[in-house]
Amino acid sequence: MPKKAIGILGTGAYAPERILTNKDLEQMVETSDEWIVSRTGIKERRIAAQGDAASDLAVRAAERAISRAGLTPSQIELIICATVTPDMMFPSTACLIQAKLGIKNAPAFDLSAGCSGFTYALAVGAQLAQEAYRYVLVVGVDVLSKITDYTDRSTCVLFGDGAGAAVLGPVPEGYGILAAELGADGGGGDLLKLPAGGSLKPASVDSVGQGEHFIKMAGNEVFKFAVRIMDRAAGAVLEKAQLAPDDVAWFVPHQANVRIIQAAAARLEVPLERFFVNVDRYGNTSAASIAIALDELARSGELHHGQNVVTVGFGAGLTWAAVALRWWERGETHG
Ligand code: ACO
Repeated sequence: MPKKAIGILGTGAYAPERILTNKDLEQMVETSDEWIVSRTGIKERRIAAQGDAASDLAVRAAERAISRAGLTPSQIELIICATVTPDMMFPSTACLIQAKLGIKNAPAFDLSAGCSGFTYALAVGAQLAQEAYRYVLVVGVDVLSKITDYTDRSTCVLFGDGAGAAVLGPVPEGYGILAAELGADGGGGDLLKLPAGGSLKPASVDSVGQGEHFIKMAGNEVFKFAVRIMDRAAGAVLEKAQLAPDDVAWFVPHQANVRIIQAAAARLEVPLERFFVNVDRYGNTSAASIAIALDELARSGELHHGQNVVTVGFGAGLTWAAVALRWWERGETHG
């Protein structure tokens, strides 16, 4: 895909301090730690402070990513924010991030692709970085706790809040983003949605009364779709990048449910150890999930210069996305 090599120069993440454990949820709905762990792999998730919006979490992650890229905010030339929980319908959260970072004039826009959002944004950001923008800030952020019904046990045990960011920019030839595979099936839109608050059903006493400002999900259907699509998307991006699963040091999957990750690993015939997993500590943070995982992997000491990485996810839309990249460690110039 790339004409000019574009890679990740730095990553950053932020997770709110407050931890909501499975034991806490046992006090809120008819559930158990045993059920949640065995069905999802989740042990705890983070919950944003009451006054914190998506842009607040995003800015903390972005500052870390920009600093790890060895840059200052004023050098960022484009901002893309993937989210389904923007601060408000408009202005875009990307514009709010721009203002909070004190960046002047850089174009900024939001991208909505559910949990696939960060990987979508990496693909779009890399294309635009090839065209016209030297340093691109890509953020994945969601504050799902604000749209989660904590009386609905089928959804409230799954979700958490967080933000992750990456700075894209020029890297030496042969490194950086090798290929992207994006997809959508709008016919599956009803399976995972926030029914009210948009132009179809503006907020009303009725919509609030009906609980239509909370996530509605056909969990089982989404699960089946996820298992089908994860290895297909990963397989497609590997083919585009001319890599085999064995060439990949790390798969960074969307962190929704450890059973979905296990199924993807089995279908790709890749040992689970090469799939980065942190869903136990964060739950499903939607557009932030892959971004947080990538940042944790980058800082773990387990990801090395020149290794191949595949990010792969699925989400509301329905959407799916995968990116294959060759990791470039800042300061290195050859493999
Ligand atoms: N505690 C205890 N029991 C529960 C809970 C709970 N928290 N939630 C559901 N149950 C019950 C159900 O009521 C059902 O009981 P029943 O058999 O008496 O009717 C039983 O457990 C089994 O329910 P299933 O829905 O069949 O359970 P399943 O194994 O499918 O797991 C889950 C449910 C975890 C939601 C799973 O379907 C899943 O992970 N789906 C994918 C969700 C996902 O990834 N969503 C994110 C998409 S990305 C985005 O854009 C946000």
